[in-house]
Amino acid sequence: MKPILKLITLGLFLLGCTPEESTSADDRIRGVMADSAMVVTTHPLASQVGLDILAKGGNSFDAAVAVHFALAVVFPEAGNVGGGGFAVIRTEKGELASLDFREKAPLSAGRDMYLDSSGDVISGMSRLGHLASGVPGSVAGMWELHQKYGSLPWESLVEPSIKLAEEGFLITDLGANNINGALDFIAQATQYSPWILKEGGWSEGDSVIQEELASTLKKIGSKGRDGFYLGETADLIVAEMTRGKGLITATDLEKYEAIWRDPIIGEYRGHKIISMPPPSSGGVALLQLLKGAEQFDIKSLGHNTSKTLHILTELERRVYADRATYLGDPDFVDVPVAMLVSEAYNRNRNASIDLSQKTASQDIKEGSVDVIESTQTTHYSIVDSKGNAIAVTTTLNGYFGCKVMVEGAGFFLNNEMDDFSAKPGVPNMFGLIGNEANAIAPEKRMLSSMTPTIIEKDQKLFMVNGTPGGSTIITTLFQTTMNVIDHEMTMQEAVNAKRIHSQWLPDSIYIEPDALPDSVVLGLEALGHGISSRQRNMGKVNAILAYPEGQLEGAADYTRGDGTALGY
Ligand code: DON
Repeated sequence: MKPILKLITLGLFLLGCTPEESTSADDRIRGVMADSAMVVTTHPLASQVGLDILAKGGNSFDAAVAVHFALAVVFPEAGNVGGGGFAVIRTEKGELASLDFREKAPLSAGRDMYLDSSGDVISGMSRLGHLASGVPGSVAGMWELHQKYGSLPWESLVEPSIKLAEEGFLITDLGANNINGALDFIAQATQYSPWILKEGGWSEGDSVIQEELASTLKKIGSKGRDGFYLGETADLIVAEMTRGKGLITATDLEKYEAIWRDPIIGEYRGHKIISMPPPSSGGVALLQLLKGAEQFDIKSLGHNTSKTLHILTELERRVYADRATYLGDPDFVDVPVAMLVSEAYNRNRNASIDLSQKTASQDIKEGSVDVIESTQTTHYSIVDSKGNAIAVTTTLNGYFGCKVMVEGAGFFLNNEMDDFSAKPGVPNMFGLIGNEANAIAPEKRMLSSMTPTIIEKDQKLFMVNGTPGGSTIITTLFQTTMNVIDHEMTMQEAVNAKRIHSQWLPDSIYIEPDALPDSVVLGLEALGHGISSRQRNMGKVNAILAYPEGQLEGAADYTRGDGTALGY
């Protein structure tokens, strides 16, 4: 059969421009502009699948389901059926909701499962191999989303991804590099020889056909949730766990449920921020950061100046210290959400910010951690012609999760167990530390930083936003939000702008390659900050801005990946 390569067809053809060309008369860089609907994902083929569903009369939620399964095929690094995620929703009528389809610890998981007999963390155990996987939530999440908000038949939404898996697609340069970088780990973790372990590695333009994944998707297409959590697919997952001495059982799969939660809501300079509540730390942390930023005149301090970045860093280190202490799965621990996002708490917390020098992280709270590693997650944003909006962030955690592909089922399992705190004060792969609130317990959801977010202005849809990036997700959302609201950037300018990140510990400001001129770096150093230049970019934002006149601007992070905005 012939591989499909429908690269960026409809949307950009209709609109006749690429984002970097769309500098208008006012000299602003804009993303893809459209009058009715927009899909922004991290892969052109997934964006096309979403656009096709909208063009057939599906709503944003139908498109999200179709995009989710398409990403599992064309972006197996992070797109998934073996992972989980979160969705934030705003319907055309202004109804708000958030859906938690985060993975859970298996029933037989235990607090100290990654510690040796001396109580030390066994390196790599929560990241590579069968024991690293939480119980997947994605299929239950998509099923629940469709049950509540879908309009087209479920099967028709899974069908495009079955086609992509069966007929194949041509891999991008980035996709080939991502797979090649993980091959040794996949070989180590997987106990058979799946298609992905190709002799000599992958090159741009190679065709990828995934028959086993197609057969899993067919079961999901015909049986819905039960096509994954019961029957043959469940049997294959359990058999894989038995072979690799993992923990997930048939009961774990059968019991998994996605949960509707009240989104976390706050204000920022006259905008309503709607984001993901715990077990994500993202919404709480974003609101805390914005509350803090509101105390300063960020606009006149300027974008990426040393004064502004000093303030952002000081806010971030306090918020990440709170994250480590207070945040966890609300079904297991009391998370003081209302207190953390309150005006009074944040004013008091930030009163110690000194504009003439940094506060050392050690003075905020004790601890010491390693550097942050960058891996992979993915975010998609969709708005349909009626104004229904959805922001979904989904992940396997690391690239290709725990690197175990389920034999016979053709998909990777996550390594989300690493998002728990394996031991108080010991960092996870993002250098994040945690305490009791995020300790491992059977059926508990591990704390996340994923921050799918929708913003309203004047009771109307204003922005749909989100990104991958582990611990940098929250600060990337913080910066893109301020870029638009304070610095009056277009969505594309806000996405393109260089990013920095700090997270309390390590006590340093991380900057993207060539992010800041020497003068700004010197200014920050003069205030006492240590600067660490990162080799890699931070995040891959996929966002949509709704203009008051009704136009939509779709901004993919195309300078940092294969992201593609398509609209009509
Ligand atoms: O839930 C979390 O916060 C992490 N598992 C997200 C991982 C991630 O974003 C990796 N991507 N760059």
